[in-house]
Amino acid sequence: MSSFIVEGGNRLTGEIEISGAKNAVLPILAGTALSSGENSIQQVPKLRDVRVMKEVLESLGAKVSQEDNVITVNSRLIDSCEISESLMRKMRATVFLMGPLLARFNQVRISQPGGCSIGPRPIDLHIKGLKALGAEFTEGNGYLEGKAEELVGAEIHLDFPSVGATENIMMASTKAKGTTVIRNAAKEPEIIDLQNFLNGMGAKIRGAGTDVIKIKGVEELNSINYTVIPDRIETGTFMVAAAVTNGDVLLQNVIPEHIEPIIAKLLEMGVDVKHNQDQIKVVGVPKIKGVDVKTLPYPGFPTDMQPQFMTLLSVADGTSVITETIFENRFKHADELRRMGADIKIESRSAIIKGIDNLSGTIVEASDLRAGAALVLAGLVAEDKTEVRNIYHIDRGYEDLEAKISKLGGQINRVSK
Ligand code: UD1
Repeated sequence: MSSFIVEGGNRLTGEIEISGAKNAVLPILAGTALSSGENSIQQVPKLRDVRVMKEVLESLGAKVSQEDNVITVNSRLIDSCEISESLMRKMRATVFLMGPLLARFNQVRISQPGGCSIGPRPIDLHIKGLKALGAEFTEGNGYLEGKAEELVGAEIHLDFPSVGATENIMMASTKAKGTTVIRNAAKEPEIIDLQNFLNGMGAKIRGAGTDVIKIKGVEELNSINYTVIPDRIETGTFMVAAAVTNGDVLLQNVIPEHIEPIIAKLLEMGVDVKHNQDQIKVVGVPKIKGVDVKTLPYPGFPTDMQPQFMTLLSVADGTSVITETIFENRFKHADELRRMGADIKIESRSAIIKGIDNLSGTIVEASDLRAGAALVLAGLVAEDKTEVRNIYHIDRGYEDLEAKISKLGGQINRVSK
């Protein structure tokens, strides 16, 4: 088991480069299964989740190779439509293969995804959408099997703008007969990236980034060479790192429009944020103002930044309230922050945070990826040493986290026991 030992008290200063987006690259890698050629994906972050997606593609028969941040997937040899329980358990995002496999083979068999530490996370909206396209599903022995004579375009209204369901339905309908319309679609930047990637392969998709997406089915999808967008959550995490340590950090390779809700909150807190086309500079202030935060689907405040903001608000001035509307059970980091001295009370879907002067280092455990990031941030500002355990969660989604923090002057070391 590995841990991070973080020594608090250093101001983060300097500049770093943001990596490619985890949440963009996972559906894109799954989408390579739609083509029967060789696809090259650039700016791929080296993450545990990406390694699992490679393994999943290989288990289906694809030939996958990686050189530095470029992954090449030859999907021609894919001949299996089944994803094993062991792979499904390693990563929920394997559900992204449902759409592509159904589109290509009219068939898919996956182990039922369970819940995870941030809530039950059902896939009913994915299934409802795929059923509307003509797939029939049966369940048994923990597996879910989908079959279709052929997929046919349909009008689909999502009950909630689910990111994963929107992506799965987009991919499934690329080769469906006729036109598919997804209403109340998710509008996240990763959906636009998926549209750009699929259109680059020859798909006919319009509307990503709005709540109506139209997909005209095509016969075939070709090979592509594609570069994924920068990671807006990694960007946001480093923005908070700069703010919480009263630092001065320049982030390169960012798309500022994707971070607008985060920039707006930091400005409201009195933090100095400036940006141009592809850089963001964050300069902290000695005392940050407390604010209220409510997570919402994009372009609202991202749930994936909620834990990091909880750390920041723990040491801000006054009382703040965070309301989590996306996931049911996403406050486990509050218990760990409390162990570091934070004054946080949870009431149903809200966290009431009374800012204190400083946190104090201790042993804490990451319960999921972003909770882990929040604890590392807490360690950077806390007095003494903080040991963050279960950092395999953090390795799922941050490329070179400790190298980047060290480059900015933070003290963080990985230890294995
Ligand atoms: C994606 C992101 C995740 C982010 C989340 C919300 C990836 C790989 N992951 O996850 O980092 O936190 O968006 O921005 O892109 N829901 C249902 N039924 C469904 C699908 C979802 O009830 O069929 C519910 C979920 O339980 C959750 C909410 O809808 O409460 C949002 O989920 P969704 O937008 O689907 O998130 P993911 O795609 O799983």
